[in-house]
Amino acid sequence: MDKFLIKGPAKLKGSVKISGSKNAALPIMVACIGYPGIYTLNNVPDLRDTRTITKLMQAIGCKIHSNKNTFIINSIDCNNPVAPYDLVKTMRASFYVLGPLLSRFKKAKVSLPGGCAWGPRPVDFHIKAFEKMGINIALDKGYVFADGELDSTVINFKTSSVGATGNVLMGCTNLDKEVIINNAAREPEIVDLCNFLTKIGMSIDGIGTSILRIKGIPNSDNKTRKITYDIIPDRIEAGTFLIAALMTKSEITLNNLIVDHIQSIIDKAKEIGAVLSMHSKNSLTIKYDKNIKAIDIKTDIYPGFPTDMQPQWISLMSVCKGESKVKDTVYFDRFSHIPELIRMGANIKLDKNIATIKGVETLSGTEVMAGDLRAGAALVLAALCAKHDTIISRVYHIDRGYEDIESKLKSLNVDIVRLK
Ligand code: UD1
Repeated sequence: MDKFLIKGPAKLKGSVKISGSKNAALPIMVACIGYPGIYTLNNVPDLRDTRTITKLMQAIGCKIHSNKNTFIINSIDCNNPVAPYDLVKTMRASFYVLGPLLSRFKKAKVSLPGGCAWGPRPVDFHIKAFEKMGINIALDKGYVFADGELDSTVINFKTSSVGATGNVLMGCTNLDKEVIINNAAREPEIVDLCNFLTKIGMSIDGIGTSILRIKGIPNSDNKTRKITYDIIPDRIEAGTFLIAALMTKSEITLNNLIVDHIQSIIDKAKEIGAVLSMHSKNSLTIKYDKNIKAIDIKTDIYPGFPTDMQPQWISLMSVCKGESKVKDTVYFDRFSHIPELIRMGANIKLDKNIATIKGVETLSGTEVMAGDLRAGAALVLAALCAKHDTIISRVYHIDRGYEDIESKLKSLNVDIVRLK
């Protein structure tokens, strides 16, 4: 298993190009299963997760060729509506295949994703929604066995869910009747999925709002699709680099992002005293100001502060002047980074889903372990500003979601080595 050796403290300089969004690429790749076609997807990040979904789609019968960040997906001959445990267990987003498989084959056998590094993450909303749409679902030996004819209905999610919204959207691909989702997720990745599905011929009203009116591709239309689509940039990667600049008291420029998508992070960064200048809607310079101070945040669904940035923000607060509280309202037990940050000298107390952080002057490098993807990112950030060397193990978590992170950090003047 690879490790990172990071020599701190680093002073960052230069600019970094933000990669394509993992959480947009995964459902959009999977959506290609729903309707036969040849799909060219650009700006797909080359990540462990996009490679896992590639393997899963190949098992289903897709032919996939990738060249750097362009993936050509041929879904014409897909014929095996089965998602096996060994591919689903490593990545919860694999459960997204349920919707497109049901839509195209009227049946699917998909492994339940199982636990996650930060506790149980159920898929009950997905299952209840498909049952409401007329699908028979049985759970047996860790698998979901689903079959039936999808039908028009109104789905009311009691909590906004990115995954369940995406799954239902893809379930509607071939449904020539209306489905309404109330309390739909509004995250930019769901908007991107909607834009892709619209491009392949579906009709979706209310994109970017919490009420979606969805109609699939008309039955009369049976032309094979030939579509090219560009995936949006990764807002969480952008937010992570933004925090890297602040934690290392540096100035860097982020390019190729959508600045609007990280507005909640920008607002909080400004509130603590960072100096941000937007050059265009795709380029932003972040500058540390010596008067940066700690503030409280709570995570929320979009456009609130993303839970996927909570670990990185705690890392930042651990070296900011003053005391702050960070509350995660989306995932209550996503805090595996805290014990590791404490080992690096941070002063953090956790009470249920609220972390109280007293800023310290400096962190010090040691051996730490990434417990999950964003916890790993938080440790990389801590290592950048820590005195001495930090060795981070279980880097495979970080590789799930950050494309070429060590090259990007090296180009920003960081002394980082991957130990094989
Ligand atoms: C997606 C993101 C993940 C992010 C999360 C919240 C992907 C691949 N992953 O995960 O990075 O942290 O959104 O922004 O896009 N819930 C249920 N039952 C369900 C589904 C969800 O109770 O069937 C709950 C969850 O436990 C959580 C909340 O709903 O408390 C939101 O989860 P959801 O938006 O579904 O997260 P994911 O789609 O899994």
